[in-house]
Amino acid sequence: MKILGIETSCDETAAAVIEDGRRILSNVIASQIDLHAKYGGVVPEVAARSHIGEIIPVIEQALQEANVTWADIDAIAVTRGPGLIGSLLIGTLTAQTLGELYNKPVVGVNHVLAHAFASFLLKEEPDCPMLALIVSGGHTQLMLFQNNLDYDLLGETRDDAAGEAFDKVSKLLGLPYPGGPSISKAAEKGNPRAFKFPIADLGKDSLDFSFSGLKTAVLRQVQELTGINPGAADHKKTYQLPEQLVSDIAASFQATVTKTLVQNTVKAYEKYKPASVVIGGGVAANQLLRQRLLAALPQALFVPPVLCTDNAAMIAVLGFKMLENQPNQVKTLLKADSSLEVI
Ligand code: KG4
Ligand code: ZN
Repeated sequence: MKILGIETSCDETAAAVIEDGRRILSNVIASQIDLHAKYGGVVPEVAARSHIGEIIPVIEQALQEANVTWADIDAIAVTRGPGLIGSLLIGTLTAQTLGELYNKPVVGVNHVLAHAFASFLLKEEPDCPMLALIVSGGHTQLMLFQNNLDYDLLGETRDDAAGEAFDKVSKLLGLPYPGGPSISKAAEKGNPRAFKFPIADLGKDSLDFSFSGLKTAVLRQVQELTGINPGAADHKKTYQLPEQLVSDIAASFQATVTKTLVQNTVKAYEKYKPASVVIGGGVAANQLLRQRLLAALPQALFVPPVLCTDNAAMIAVLGFKMLENQPNQVKTLLKADSSLEVI
């Protein structure tokens, strides 16, 4: 069974063809990073307009690279949420139109869940029960998959997502968008013990996360070092921290986020004793997080970074699982929903 996946929830226009929910025949990603970089973050209107221009060429390229025609495609899977509503609408409307035109079933997919399903593209397929840490720009969640689509949410962030914290701290330090890769690059030359930032204590039984205290601690540190309050009335004043200080703050911040994520994942592992552990979402591309998680849980499975950040291959995999397990629900699940929940 060949599924065409379509992803447009944020700032990547992506299409992929996946066979039997396992094999990548093509995985095309048109990133909008250059368009948004000058604004220091994603501008929803700019993102939606760019998706309009990119989506058809990206789909055509995905079909071409997979060496298939529409006749070979069995179904279309498209992200229906969560994400930016204008961007989601471009994807869902395109998918529905192509579905009508070529007479293919169309399945609407939850983007956050799809990040967990990217791990089914690994050579070694993860066994269930599968513990998944999903860390993206909008979500930080620990989920336990009993069997394919049967899952429980074990913990989630009570405020900022991990990726959001990376992006906000990066902006504060004057580093380019997107924040995750910028922070990890700056951290390479920094001392992770230079600053002691807090880890939120949410109680020993909780598997939730909180990053807003950490973000505020970094803000206070920058304020103390520059004498300027970048978050408040002083925000128009400019400041430039010495490069070494930026690296030290970046390294200390990254080490704290990593420690928080690893700590809860290990806690969940010990409590639920899953058969496998996977990690997904853009922040899962972070090398320090990969190293630390692997040191704590050597059985952890990682997809390559290109399948961690937004892509349509993971959307096609989840679409395949839905068609396989819940074929009757598929037609009703198409409406774009910017705040679609995982439960
Ligand atoms: O999954 P994703 O591509 O989009 C969302 O669904 O949000 O994740 C994007 C997030 C951004 O916050 C970005 O800064 C972060 O992932 N990210 C990273 C790295 N690469 C991307 N964070 C830390 N280290 C990285 N190497
Ligand atoms: Zn994502």
